[in-house]
Amino acid sequence: MKKNISVIEGDGIGPEIMKQTIKVLNSITKKYGHNFYYKNILAGSIAIEKFGTPMPKETIDTCLKSDAVLLSCIGDPKYDNNTIGMRPEDGLLKLRKIMNLYCNIRPIVVYSQINKSPIKKELLDEVDFIIYRELTGGIYFGEKGRSKNKEIAYDYCIYSKKEIQRIGIMAFKASLSRRKKVTLVDKANVLETSKLWREVIQEIALDYPDVSLDFLYIDNAAMQIIMNPKKFDIILTDNMFGDILSDEASVITSSLGLLPSASIGNKQSMFEPIHGSYPQAAGKNIANPLGCILSASMMLEYFKMYKEKNLLEEAVKKSIENKVCTSDIIDIEYSSTTEEVGNYIDTYIKNH
Ligand code: IPM
Ligand code: MN
Repeated sequence: MKKNISVIEGDGIGPEIMKQTIKVLNSITKKYGHNFYYKNILAGSIAIEKFGTPMPKETIDTCLKSDAVLLSCIGDPKYDNNTIGMRPEDGLLKLRKIMNLYCNIRPIVVYSQINKSPIKKELLDEVDFIIYRELTGGIYFGEKGRSKNKEIAYDYCIYSKKEIQRIGIMAFKASLSRRKKVTLVDKANVLETSKLWREVIQEIALDYPDVSLDFLYIDNAAMQIIMNPKKFDIILTDNMFGDILSDEASVITSSLGLLPSASIGNKQSMFEPIHGSYPQAAGKNIANPLGCILSASMMLEYFKMYKEKNLLEEAVKKSIENKVCTSDIIDIEYSSTTEEVGNYIDTYIKNH
């Protein structure tokens, strides 16, 4: 199969983890006779420096024309005080919106060999759930602004029935091949948008009589995710709550560096780890490449390349079993570099 893939290396540790990802993908495509054509394009802080915008038009055009986008991470603390009126992250949000990537899928899987979670081990066995995060609406994209004297600020949270429906249906469909349980996380005791979410999702549930639906307020969900993570199968939630819950859920797995995601629209798709650009580690060859590599594996699944995906995931599992891991998931004295982890996975693929 031929695929055109746009590659955004982004900021911070981005180039290092993407290098390992492309390396292992090359071994997969070689093994199975596929042709992936990669096009490197700029976004984020590096694009601000070169083009004066975090999301140049050429990047957008290339992404819209490709079969999928692979993105590592975007962000740079030097824009934290926002003196130039733009941030690298603005570029990412713009791309998500233009590509209409409304459904962000974030699987939370625990590997029994990894033991760096501060949560008690007995709570973690067999945790396996997926967060379905709405990605192009809500408070992220509602009108925002300041009063004339700059002393009042606002961010509107807006959702339409259509926006809720399209991700709701994706979540219910996905639950059919899992444990058939959807938990809607909202703040329906306070927010009007949450009340609409409940109405719309309850309506969809009528079409899925085999799927059980329950509801949790976000504050309660934040607690339950730590106290009893096993009970979740699919968590469906809005943009902001999904952002917060997914970082929280990463603590269960031991490291944010492990978690991949797929952002799906009607025509377009993008695959990106959920972590940020980790600038403190940039250039040190210590960042965990697995979030990015597993995002590539979600891309293979999206292309319906199931054997390919299985082999890549098997290789990742073996790297963990054999303790070829970066220091976020193993004691530092036994840890491997970013490159060593990539090489291990690459060699495993070539030999199997
Ligand atoms: C994420 C990130 C982004 C978000 C940032 C970088 C804008 O935290 O993908 O979770 O908030 O969506
Ligand atoms: Mn986030």
